[in-house]
Amino acid sequence: MKIDLTGRTALVTGSSSGIGYAAARALALADAAVVVNGRDERRVADAVDGLREETGSTKVTGIAADVATAEGAADLVGQLPDVDVLVNNLGIFGAVPVFEVPDEEWVRYFEVNVLSGIRLARHYAPRMVGRGWGRVIFVSSESAIQIPTEMVHYGMTKTAQIAVSRGMAQEVAGTGVTVNTVLPGSTLTEGVREFIADRVGRDVPFEEAERRFMETERPTSLLKRLIRPEEIGNFIAYVASDLSSATTGAALRADGGIANTLIP
Ligand SMILES: NC(=O)c1ccc[n+]([C@@H]2O[C@H](COP(=O)([O-])OP(=O)(O)OC[C@H]3O[C@@H](n4cnc5c(N)ncnc54)[C@H](OP(=O)(O)O)[C@@H]3O)[C@@H](O)[C@H]2O)c1
Repeated sequence: MKIDLTGRTALVTGSSSGIGYAAARALALADAAVVVNGRDERRVADAVDGLREETGSTKVTGIAADVATAEGAADLVGQLPDVDVLVNNLGIFGAVPVFEVPDEEWVRYFEVNVLSGIRLARHYAPRMVGRGWGRVIFVSSESAIQIPTEMVHYGMTKTAQIAVSRGMAQEVAGTGVTVNTVLPGSTLTEGVREFIADRVGRDVPFEEAERRFMETERPTSLLKRLIRPEEIGNFIAYVASDLSSATTGAALRADGGIANTLIP
């Protein structure tokens, strides 16, 4: 069994770092022509260089655009009218007690985490249907099914992604296009590394800080460690490939068993 995306074009939003970067890397290793995205030109260019070097692929390119806005999304699809694989990875998080989240923040979280993906899928998915093959993948979170008390507004957006993804999958039923969500658990990105340093203490060596964080703040994890971004990237590459053809309308957990539920 080999994941082969030769001849496919893949866009990963928010991929100049973190899980998006790892997904772009896995897709490039599977020979897809990968388009990296982020708001900052320099960071996008650095990510393209990094991915070309790490994967040996010459088919990695980048588009700097703020896809959380209608203008940014229009700019991106103007430059890239068609993709075979759309990974709606862009997402923001932050801890704020639920009764202290103002209206504007609820709206902003919806726009960045949910509407950004809807806009791009609305453009790309019907065109995939026209060609008879496509993959739309929303990167959600275990927070979708296990709402974190300290960031309910984030959890709300992650649950909404599952609803939207399922509905879109129903809309494109029987066309060769699949739509799914991937639910990572706590993953070691730069943002999470900082988050743990804040919670556990900056003087604690990282391995020990990770162990303590998992024990006290993520006790239900069956993995007992943070997930590495490449573990999510590999999973996304599988879902993006022909091999996942019987999987659509699904919420797929790659959370190290942290969500203590049987379904999904
Ligand atoms: N890390 C975790 O533990 C974890 C767990 C479960 C689920 N997730 C989900 O995984 C996804 C990725 O999370 P992450 O932690 O890997 O993120 P991250 O490390 O914070 O990466 C964010 C990326 O998105 C880009 N970005 C931010 N705002 C943007 C915008 N408006 N338009 C385009 N690009 C933008 C950033 O570049 P610029 O700043 O230059 O734009 C950067 O490349 C999110 O949907 C998140 O909810 C993460």
